[in-house]
Amino acid sequence: MKVIRAHYAGACYGVQRALNLALKQAKEPTKTFTLGPLIHNPQVVSQLAKQGVSQIDSVDDITRADAVVIRSHGVTPQVMRAVSQKSATVVDATCPHVSRAQRAAAQLAEQFGCVIVVGEKGHPEVEGLVACAREKCSCVYALTSIEELPDNLPDHLGIVVQTTQQKATLDAIVAHLQKRNITVEVKNTICDATSQRQDTAAELAQHVDGMVIIGGRNSSNTTRLADICRQYCKHVFHIEHVSELYTCTFDDIQVMGVSAGASTPEDQIEAVISYLEQLS
Ligand code: F3S
Repeated sequence: MKVIRAHYAGACYGVQRALNLALKQAKEPTKTFTLGPLIHNPQVVSQLAKQGVSQIDSVDDITRADAVVIRSHGVTPQVMRAVSQKSATVVDATCPHVSRAQRAAAQLAEQFGCVIVVGEKGHPEVEGLVACAREKCSCVYALTSIEELPDNLPDHLGIVVQTTQQKATLDAIVAHLQKRNITVEVKNTICDATSQRQDTAAELAQHVDGMVIIGGRNSSNTTRLADICRQYCKHVFHIEHVSELYTCTFDDIQVMGVSAGASTPEDQIEAVISYLEQLS
C-alpha cells in the first residue's frame, strides 16, 4: 500500500515539551505525578506510568516530597497556588501559548471589566482562562456560538480564544457583537498547530482512498481531524493504536493518508505507517 503522511501531523510543540519535562523529572529521585492526564492520549499516559510518572486527580493527593507536573492545558490560578503551598516541586509544563492566553484573559478583564472566552465550556484550558479573567472581574462568559451570547453585555469588552478553536468561530462571534454596536478588543490566541494539522489533513484526504487518524478518542483535536477528513474521504479510521488496524480490511484502498492529533507522539505514527506500508 502507498502511504502518504500529512505535512503537519502529530505532537505539537507544547505536547512534546510537556512530555520532555515530565520524563526529565521522572529521572529524579522524587516521585513524579501529573495533575490529571498529562495529555489526552491513553497510550502515552500508561507509558508514562511505566516510566514512573503517575497521575493524581486532586491537589490533596500531593505529599511533601512529590514533584507535580502541570499539564500543557494549564490549570486555574487557584490550583497553581494550592500546588505551590504543598511545597512540592512544581514542573510547569503549561504550553507557552496557553500561558499567553491566560495572561491575555487577565489583562482584558482588568482593562474592560468583561471578557468572553471563545472556547468549550468545561475544557481544562477554558476553565483556566475563565478563572484567570474572574480573578479580575465578574463578567466572564465561555461560549462557542452566537446563540450563547447573553442579551445584556457592556458596550466594550475583551475577547480571548481557546488555543485550539477555529478562526471561523471567533470571526462569527466578533461580527455578531459588532453588529450589536459592541466594541471588542480581540486577543487572537489561537495556536497555528491545530489549523496546520486540520488544513493539511483536509488537503490530503481529497487525494487518497482512505485516511488513518491516530490519537486519543478523548482528544477533541484528533476527533475533529477525523470529522474533517470524513467530509472529503469515504474511508476514515480513527484509531488510538496500530493494533486496531490488524482486523481491518482495506479492499478499495491503494493509497492511504495518515495524520495524527496534536497529542500523538512520533512512535505511534511510525508504527502505523510501517504496518500499512507492508500491506500488499
Ligand atoms: Fe500548545 Fe498549540 Fe500544542 S497551544 S499544546 S502548541 S496545540
